[in-house]
Amino acid sequence: MHLVLATEAQKAERDRVTHAAWGSPLTVEQFHQRELRLRAHPWCTAGMNTWLLREDDGSVLASCETFHNDSHLRGPDGQYAPGDSFSIASVFTEDHLRRHGHATRLMDLVATELERASPRGHAAVLFSDVGASLYRRSGYEEVPAWDWDLPAREAASTRPGASLLKDGDVAEALGRFRRPDAPFYLWPSPAQVDWHLERERIYAELLGRPRPEACGAVVGESTALWAMMARHGELVVLMLEARSDEDAATLLETAGAVAHRAGLAKVVVWEQPDTAPRVARVPGATRVPRDGSLPMVRPLRPGLPPAPAIPFPRALWV
Ligand SMILES: CC(C)(COP(=O)(O)OP(=O)(O)OC[C@H]1O[C@@H](n2cnc3c(N)ncnc32)[C@H](O)[C@@H]1OP(=O)(O)O)[C@@H](O)C(=O)NCCC(=O)NCCS
Repeated sequence: MHLVLATEAQKAERDRVTHAAWGSPLTVEQFHQRELRLRAHPWCTAGMNTWLLREDDGSVLASCETFHNDSHLRGPDGQYAPGDSFSIASVFTEDHLRRHGHATRLMDLVATELERASPRGHAAVLFSDVGASLYRRSGYEEVPAWDWDLPAREAASTRPGASLLKDGDVAEALGRFRRPDAPFYLWPSPAQVDWHLERERIYAELLGRPRPEACGAVVGESTALWAMMARHGELVVLMLEARSDEDAATLLETAGAVAHRAGLAKVVVWEQPDTAPRVARVPGATRVPRDGSLPMVRPLRPGLPPAPAIPFPRALWV
């Protein structure tokens, strides 16, 4: 049993089997086209790998993907050291091969390989849809995860308007965000944010529905970036920085109005310690336990803080 990087042909084969988990409502061929297009996106060509756990006879037992993120670890002198972290996604074992420890073995081997190959390695992270126990076995620790849901509706208030952001505004908008005051954090690049928008573009095309008119908004010094999750009827806030309660309400009401006009039912904001008190005061915001996408972290070197001290904005999700 050994770990290898998949060839293009092997990636295409995995698209066809993993469709069972993530393909609906796309056909197998549409899902393969989605995957090809995402793999061709600049964020992926720069730092995505597909890993296979193979039996000695060459058959594939399990697979996953890793994506590169820049990360920053505060040292004893208070200065941040830049490093590399890796987000793991699409962990998959075919039905008839499950419960033999293949996914666990894959996760162990991938982490060992990331440790070996990354002199600046900080952490491996993932967003579990199957709870914590599987990944705890491989050294991952979870971060408690809550969402704030807001209804999509026409803005009712007369707040001074926010300006809407287009795809081409993402890099500048991301540059407006203050970095977190945390002992360790991962930070999304403009390309990673655009990868979320590429997913939005793909689903809009394949499902024949309009894209939202904007991918974010600014008001004063405050900024929000978001993307449509067409399959779930949601507008998900990727990044949010609100410098006042008024700004939080303006940005999220704008998101709600954009979602409404795009035919979406709600806006979802991942709870972050810095913005939670402001989001909680936005009229109509409801706190719910997150369903899936549980952030988990496995250090690749000593000195990382416990997982709950690490911020995970939705933009980091893979
Ligand atoms: C999750 C998955 C990768 C596990 O693969 P596997 O090779 O069977 O994993 P292992 O044998 O190493 O570990 C099995 C453990 O996975 C956990 N697990 C698997 N599916 C689970 C689910 N739907 N919910 C909660 N835990 C689950 C259980 O803890 C199980 O332990 P148990 O056998 O003691 O009950 C496989 O079930 C799969 O491909 N599922 C569909 C895709 C998916 O959901 N991937 C995970 C995305 S985060």
